[in-house]
Amino acid sequence: MKAIVQDKYGSPDTVLQLREIDKPVIGDDEVLVRVRAASVHPDVWHAVTGRPYVLRLMGAGVFRPKDSVPGTDVAGLVESVGTDVTRFEPGDEVFGETRTEHQWRNGGAFAEFVSIPQDALALKPRGITFEQAASVPTSGLIALSNLHGGGRIQPGQSVLINGAGGGVGTIAVQLAKAYGARVTGVDCTEKLEMIRSLGADQVIDYTREDFTQRGERYDLIFDVASNLSLSDCKRALVPTGTYVLIGHDHYGAAAGRIFGSFPRFFKLMALSPFVCQLPKPSFSMPSKKEVMAVLAEFLEAGKLTPVIDRTYPLKEVPEAIRYLQGGGAVGKIIITP
Ligand SMILES: NC(=O)c1ccc[n+]([C@@H]2O[C@H](COP(=O)([O-])OP(=O)(O)OC[C@H]3O[C@@H](n4cnc5c(N)ncnc54)[C@H](OP(=O)(O)O)[C@@H]3O)[C@@H](O)[C@H]2O)c1
Repeated sequence: MKAIVQDKYGSPDTVLQLREIDKPVIGDDEVLVRVRAASVHPDVWHAVTGRPYVLRLMGAGVFRPKDSVPGTDVAGLVESVGTDVTRFEPGDEVFGETRTEHQWRNGGAFAEFVSIPQDALALKPRGITFEQAASVPTSGLIALSNLHGGGRIQPGQSVLINGAGGGVGTIAVQLAKAYGARVTGVDCTEKLEMIRSLGADQVIDYTREDFTQRGERYDLIFDVASNLSLSDCKRALVPTGTYVLIGHDHYGAAAGRIFGSFPRFFKLMALSPFVCQLPKPSFSMPSKKEVMAVLAEFLEAGKLTPVIDRTYPLKEVPEAIRYLQGGGAVGKIIITP
């Protein structure tokens, strides 16, 4: 099969190559999926470049990538199933992540076929294209588990999404509206119209205005762009409000090469027992299977409509990552084999 392959960590432009490789062999609990569409997100860049370095110790591979084919989000057709697979059969249209664990490693999605544990997949809703379905998994899992996890979002609440026009933000806006919140989306001028069209009640242009200086207060600040300080956010939160940090450093630009944004996350976790606006660490996250099922329901019900910016062929994955990294994409970037 054709696949994008990397033998070493480095810039996507220099380490990624289109090659012919063997089709993956499925395990007993795995499904072989013929990829119809995959998508690009910032964690793909982290896994390809091996930065921050700590991710290499988290399973990605210490000296070189343990898995050579990048990409984690797919939609496609089930080609065959392992002996223990009960939820899918050949011919099913599915979408999901390619792994059940965290995303900071290559997942094999940028290829014609990929093997996936059955619990990372859901059936693709009929009215959704493969491209739309492939744009949802990782961003949707992050948005849903952080917005809804622990009963965080409640109907009638006022929620501000910082970075509302990006991969995670466009889904977070729609989910927050579906849960009955009043939503304010913050992003650059070019994305405001799209954010409004997704249902946001109010939009703020970060290039013209600092929302923390407006005097308005929110129940939840969902910081996807991750450029805010806790003290700035406290000014814009009601006393019982919550600040949730989502983003990692901006492609290595904003944090250390070794640990990335982990020190910032750990600092907030350490402060959380003493600062009521910080969420308490939760060790009972819903499983990927449960979250994928909820995302599929939102898509089916028309409460979540993926926004696609553009589509690249498999051989142009480096261009697609470069375009993502440049910012400015209005919606998700898709790869088709
Ligand atoms: N997407 C995923 O699946 C995923 C999964 C896990 C973690 N994350 C983390 O979440 C973060 C965001 O991911 P994403 O996919 O949503 O990235 P993204 O598509 O690049 O979205 C970020 C959005 O924030 C906007 N932004 C930039 N500076 C801002 C500012 N000062 N104030 C408000 N908005 C600003 C960006 O606009 P411009 O285009 O103008 O810069 C962009 O629309 C990343 O750090 C990523 O590592 C993402």
